[in-house]
Amino acid sequence: MRTLVTSALPYANGPLHLGHLAGAYLPADVYVRYLRSMSKDVLWVCGSDEHGAAISMRAKREGRSERDIVDHYYQLHRDSFAAFGIDFDIYHRTSSELHHETAQELFAQLIRDGKSFEQRSTEQFYDPEEQTFLADRFITGTCPNCGSDNAYGDQCENCGKDLSPRELINPRSTISGAAPELRSTTHWFFKLDQHEAWLKEYIEQGRLSAKQQKRSHHDPRAWRNHVVGQCKSWLDAGLQPRAFTRDLDWGIPVPVVPDHISDADAQGKVLYVWFDAPIGYISATKAYLSETSFAERRKERGHEAASWEDFWKSPDSSRLIHFIGKDNIVFHCLTFQATLRALGEDWNIAENVPANQFLNFEGEKFSKSRGIGITMDEYLTEFKDFPNHVDAMRWALLRGAPENKDADFTWDDFVNYHDKELADKLGNFVNRVVVLTHKYYDGVVPSASFVAPALNECRGSVEVLQRQLDAFELKEAAAQAIGFVDWANTDLQERAPWKLYKASPDSPAIKEALFVAVQAAATAAVTLAPFLPATAKRIAALLGLEDYSIATARAKLQAGKALVSAGSKLSQPEILFAKIHDRKDDSRLKLIDAQREKLATALANAPVTASSTTTSSYAPVKETIQFDDFQKLDLRTGKILTAERIPKADKLLKLQVDLGFEQRTIVSGIAQHFAPDELPGKQVLVLVNLAPRKLRGVESAGMILMAEDAEGKLQFVAPEQAVAPGHTVS
Ligand code: 2FM
Ligand code: ZN
Repeated sequence: MRTLVTSALPYANGPLHLGHLAGAYLPADVYVRYLRSMSKDVLWVCGSDEHGAAISMRAKREGRSERDIVDHYYQLHRDSFAAFGIDFDIYHRTSSELHHETAQELFAQLIRDGKSFEQRSTEQFYDPEEQTFLADRFITGTCPNCGSDNAYGDQCENCGKDLSPRELINPRSTISGAAPELRSTTHWFFKLDQHEAWLKEYIEQGRLSAKQQKRSHHDPRAWRNHVVGQCKSWLDAGLQPRAFTRDLDWGIPVPVVPDHISDADAQGKVLYVWFDAPIGYISATKAYLSETSFAERRKERGHEAASWEDFWKSPDSSRLIHFIGKDNIVFHCLTFQATLRALGEDWNIAENVPANQFLNFEGEKFSKSRGIGITMDEYLTEFKDFPNHVDAMRWALLRGAPENKDADFTWDDFVNYHDKELADKLGNFVNRVVVLTHKYYDGVVPSASFVAPALNECRGSVEVLQRQLDAFELKEAAAQAIGFVDWANTDLQERAPWKLYKASPDSPAIKEALFVAVQAAATAAVTLAPFLPATAKRIAALLGLEDYSIATARAKLQAGKALVSAGSKLSQPEILFAKIHDRKDDSRLKLIDAQREKLATALANAPVTASSTTTSSYAPVKETIQFDDFQKLDLRTGKILTAERIPKADKLLKLQVDLGFEQRTIVSGIAQHFAPDELPGKQVLVLVNLAPRKLRGVESAGMILMAEDAEGKLQFVAPEQAVAPGHTVS
C-alpha cells in the first residue's frame, strides 16, 4: 500500500510562526518519518500557495509586485522548514507552469463534463473609487456572529466563522475605504450541493457509495472528533454551490474551453485560490515524479517506478492523508474531496484528515502585527547558539501539540520539557550508559544472559509507538517514548551497577545492567527518531547503531535479538542537551528571559510593535472603526509619580501613575528610551480601561500612550498645558 501525505500549502505572503509549524508540518513530518522508518512507500508533498486575494492585498498596500512577495516567502518558508528538519519530498509552488496547466486542465475537464459547474450571474461588491471588483478578503466589516469590527468578507478571524461579504455589517473596501456597491458579474459555481449525500456517508460512516468502492473506506472513529464535528455541522446546514472563479488579476487565468467558456467570458477571471491550492498537491506529485531535478532523490527514496496516478488514481493501492490546521477542515474534507469525486470515481478520496487545532502563545493569539509569538526564522536565528535548538523546539511543540483542543505554547513549558525530559531523562540516561560502559568495559558492550524481560520492554515500547502513530496519536506517542526512557532510568538505578562494581567488579549482574541499558538507549533512538531526528542520529552514532529504523528494530526485538550486539564498541560520551537552568552557565536562561521580555514589551507597549511590522516608515492604517468603537476607549490624563526598573527586564519600567480618582501600577516598555529618574512628574495620557495583565510578574492596569518616530524613538503624548490627572480625553 502506498501513502500520499500532504501538508497544507502555506500562503507565501508572510513569515510562518511556531503555531503553523505545530499545526500541519511537524505532525506530518513525524508521521512520514515513521512510515519511512517502517520501509513504507510514502510520498510527502507540500509547497507555497502563491495566489489569493491576501497576497494581492499585501502587494497593493506595500507597493510591491505579487511576484516579489511570493518569491521572498517561498524561499524563506522552504529554508525555515528545512532547518527545522521538516523533510518534504518536494516543496513546490502554485505559481509554477506545471501547476497552472494542471489546475486549468482539471477545471476544463469539470467544465466539459457539463454537470459539475453552472455559470451564474451574481451580484458582487465593487469598489467605485478603485473601479474594481473586490475579492472577499478586500472587504471588511462587522462580524454578524461575534460583533468584531475587523471581520473579512470570507471569514472573521476573531471567532473563526466563515462568512460571505454580504453578511458583513457596514462593509468597507480595504483598498480605498469606500463603501462598496453591488454590481453584476459572472462566475462558475461548483455544484457542491450535489455532493452532499455521499459526503455525509463518507464523513459519518466512512463509506463511499461508488461502485468499485462499496466496502468500507475508513473507520470514522479513527478521525478526530473535532474534524468530524466540523464537517457534520456544515453538512447538517446543507451545502451550497460555491463560486470557483474570481474577478482578480493575480492567479490562474480561467481557461477558454471551446463550446463552454469563450475568450470574452474568461477575460479578467482567475480560478478561486481554494480550487487551485489543493490541486497544488497533485501538481507537486507530478513535478516530483517527473522532473529530472528530483531524479537523485527519487532513487534514494525508492520512488523511481511510480507515476503521479499511482498516488491519485489507485484507490485500492494508495491512501491519501491530509495534514492541516482546523481552519482548513471544510475545504479539505468537503470541497476538495467533492472536487476529486467530480473528476472521476477512480480518484482517491482522503482516508484521514488529522487536523490540529490552534496553538496560542502565552495565552495570546500569535500576531505578527502585535509582536506576539515567534516566527520560525526568528527562532532559528535567535536560538542558533542554543545546543540542539531544533530538536528542543520540536519536542516542546510535539509534547504540547494542539491535537484535539487548542493548546498554549509557553516558555515555561519549553524550559520544563527541555530540562526535565530531554536533559534529565534522555540526555542523562544516554550519557550514563556510555560513560559506565567505557568505565567498566572500555566502551565495549558486554555480553549478558538474563535479558529477555528487558528486551520485551523494548519491544513493547516499539510496538505501542507503532499503534499510536498509526492512529495519529502523536502526542501520546511522544509521551510514551519518553516514558520508556523513564523506565530505563529507573531500571538502571535499581540495578545500580556502580554498587555492584564496588563489591565485585566481575559480577555478571553488571554486564547485564549495562547490556540492558545499551538496548534501552538504542530503543530510545529508534522510537524518538521521528520526533527528534538530530538527537536520535547522535544517539545511534554513540551506540554504533547504523540501522535504527523501526522496521529493523521491531524485527530484531520480536525475534528476541538485541539491537546492539555484545562486542560493539561505543563512541566517547557527549552531552546531548545542556540544561537551561544551570548554576554555572546562565546563557540559555538569558535567551529565554529575552523572549519573555520581548512578549511583555509587546503586551505593554502596542505602538512599538505596530510600526515594526512594516518596511515603510509608516505603519499601515488599520481598519476603519465606528464612533462607538472609539467611545469604548477610556482615555484619561495622568501623572507619573514613580518609575522603577523591573529586575531582569531591560525594556520595562514599572510606573505608579496618578489618575486623580486613584493611583495605578502600569508596566510600560519604555526603559530603553527613558531613565526612571526623569519620569516622575510627567504628564501622560492613559488608556485606563484596558484589561489588566501580569507582565514579568507585575500586574499592569492600563497603557500609557506613546508616539513613535521613524527611528523607533518614543515620546509621551500629553496635553500642551497641564491638566489635572483623571480628566477625560476625547
Ligand atoms: O490556509 C492557508 O494557509 C492555505 N494557503 C492553505 C491551503 S491548503 C491546500 F489547499 F493547499
Ligand atoms: Zn466573528
